[in-house]
Amino acid sequence: MSRHDEPIVLGIETSCDETGVGIVRGHTLLANTIASSMDEHARFGGVVPEVASRAHLEAMTPTVEGALAAAGLRFSDIDAVAVTAGPGLAGALLVGVAAAKAYALGLGVPLYGVNHLAAHVAVDQLEHGPLPKPSVALLVSGGHSSLLLVPDVAQDVISLGSTVDDAAGEAFDKVARVLGLPFPGGPHIDRAAREGSGTAVAFPRGKYDDGTLDFSFSGLKTAVARWVEAREAAGEAVPVADVAASFQEAVVDVLTRKALQACARYDVKDLLIGGGVAANSRLRAMAQERCDAAGVRLRVPRPGLCTDNGAMVAALGANLVAAGAKPSTLDIPADSSLPITVVNV
Ligand code: KG4
Ligand code: ZN
Repeated sequence: MSRHDEPIVLGIETSCDETGVGIVRGHTLLANTIASSMDEHARFGGVVPEVASRAHLEAMTPTVEGALAAAGLRFSDIDAVAVTAGPGLAGALLVGVAAAKAYALGLGVPLYGVNHLAAHVAVDQLEHGPLPKPSVALLVSGGHSSLLLVPDVAQDVISLGSTVDDAAGEAFDKVARVLGLPFPGGPHIDRAAREGSGTAVAFPRGKYDDGTLDFSFSGLKTAVARWVEAREAAGEAVPVADVAASFQEAVVDVLTRKALQACARYDVKDLLIGGGVAANSRLRAMAQERCDAAGVRLRVPRPGLCTDNGAMVAALGANLVAAGAKPSTLDIPADSSLPITVVNV
């Protein structure tokens, strides 16, 4: 039983390069503190797992203390600890899971090991209130692109489709590299695209009409690379803004088209978009247009809640406490390939 009317949940996220610690009271956000090791990875053009793990280890205690200070709370105020148990980088997850176990044991409060992807869905409640049941969720991040049917984020998440090759964010990052933009590429392509035309180059739209709810972005990524190489070989300048805008248009067109197909197929009137790529301005705009046309309500958290953070983990933890879910045992593993259908372990 919680010591407060609504439980105060500490959430810890370490699945990739962000050490995120969030604190919520029910679904009220109290703190969302993040330490990122991105600067240490940028020169490698991708996240180096060993570097990320070490950075988590160094950042964990100060980030937890920073979140408590930001919320004006003490350790004794915490009712439950939630942590990302997977999927993600094994060594990085391990640091968060070990820390969460130690905090839960030391404070004498329950531990909830949660799914990173379900947490990307749950976070929207901090901004827009309880999730309609059911909702369709489009989850687009650096590691995942999935369409989910979500009858109840605390208990039941069903996979409707996913990428058969690259994740959407991965395609953004790889195309940014081809265009000479820094890592991670998504925000840079978003910015460059504002100066360009989305119809300048007709890039392919993988699996556009295949009748499935799956995605494919590797053909698009290769098509952009070939197009840029051909320009360079001919000694011509590469129109970075136009290529960025045209690539982005192709990704966003397929994502929003399939998301609305999923809503129609399952007769769901609420669409949620989550994950780092949900920060993309063109995705947000096109999704809004197409949802309006289809009579579907759209929910997208503000960009700071879309990319990895601890508040999303705390938000899902609060759902689990409210649903009376069984806490995790102190011997739960970090599971780098935890399936999306497993909300908590
Ligand atoms: O959810 P996230 O922070 O980490 C993972 O769980 O992967 O997502 C990171 C991904 C990166 O690929 C990054 O390039 C992409 O999200 N991203 C964006 C934008 N902001 C972040 N992609 C497109 N447009 C953006 N504005
Ligand atoms: Zn993520």
